[in-house]
Amino acid sequence: MKNKFATDKIKINIDYNLKKSSKILSQKEHEDILKKFKKNGVVIFSNISSKIQNLSKFVDLFSQAYSHDAQRRKIRFNNRNIRNVDVGYNKILLHSETSFSPSRPEIIWFYCVKPPKTNSGKTILCDGVDLWNSLSTHTKTFFLGDPVCYSLKIPINNKIKGKGKRPWFLNNPGVKNCYLNLDDKSIEFKYVKFAVEEANYINKLCFSNHLFVPLSSEPQIMSRKMYNGKIIPKKIEDEIHEKANKLTKRITWVKNDLVMIDNIRFMHGRENINKNEKERDIITMQTSKSKFRSEPNNKFS
Ligand SMILES: [Fe+2]
Repeated sequence: MKNKFATDKIKINIDYNLKKSSKILSQKEHEDILKKFKKNGVVIFSNISSKIQNLSKFVDLFSQAYSHDAQRRKIRFNNRNIRNVDVGYNKILLHSETSFSPSRPEIIWFYCVKPPKTNSGKTILCDGVDLWNSLSTHTKTFFLGDPVCYSLKIPINNKIKGKGKRPWFLNNPGVKNCYLNLDDKSIEFKYVKFAVEEANYINKLCFSNHLFVPLSSEPQIMSRKMYNGKIIPKKIEDEIHEKANKLTKRITWVKNDLVMIDNIRFMHGRENINKNEKERDIITMQTSKSKFRSEPNNKFS
């Protein structure tokens, strides 16, 4: 895989490991992966497995629970934890997955079933720690002082019976004005969240959010503004785009490669896919809660 994450690249073939010792990973390999993930926020695995069943067992080693928020994505390989990435050919701007809601996953996994034939559709990644460090004091001050307010409408199971709208409760900091809308089978609420926050395993702030993706691409977001009502000045937006562009790294997909991304720290997206491209097949898994985040001694200095 050609990219600029060479130092994070791990060569482990779990099909081979399972054949040899019936263990997916040795303790040393497991520890090594966690160490790299916590320090760098992204780990790339070269040719990890050609078997989806084994891949799923591997991701299970790090996952306590999975997120099924993006119902629009088709289930793959008869496994509800494995989904297609977003369909279409359009580029997708940098974002932290579902960071506009309390159900933001901790880890995003992308696996290459088939690489593209054309040189297009590269996955893009930007480290929110580096991005925050690169911003001017003026821009930092703007986002440190005020949170963003997302107005959301999240679909619920449409088998739930009843009519009308009633007050509802979600046990998450930042949730306001929450209602269960039985007429259109949704939960409506406002979610107040800072665009900058502390990264999980390092004592640093990261700017990883859902501020710059067009609202048309995310049907759950009704509106998005600063909580104090201020509009983000164009100068600030331009600065963020310019600096994020400089820091963005690209992943050239190779068959059976896997990428593990800290979704609190990193933003991801995708470049345009060539219209003639018929081969590209990338699948995703979303770990809502990892098995290791709450372990003691999780901080790197
Ligand atoms: Fe995404």
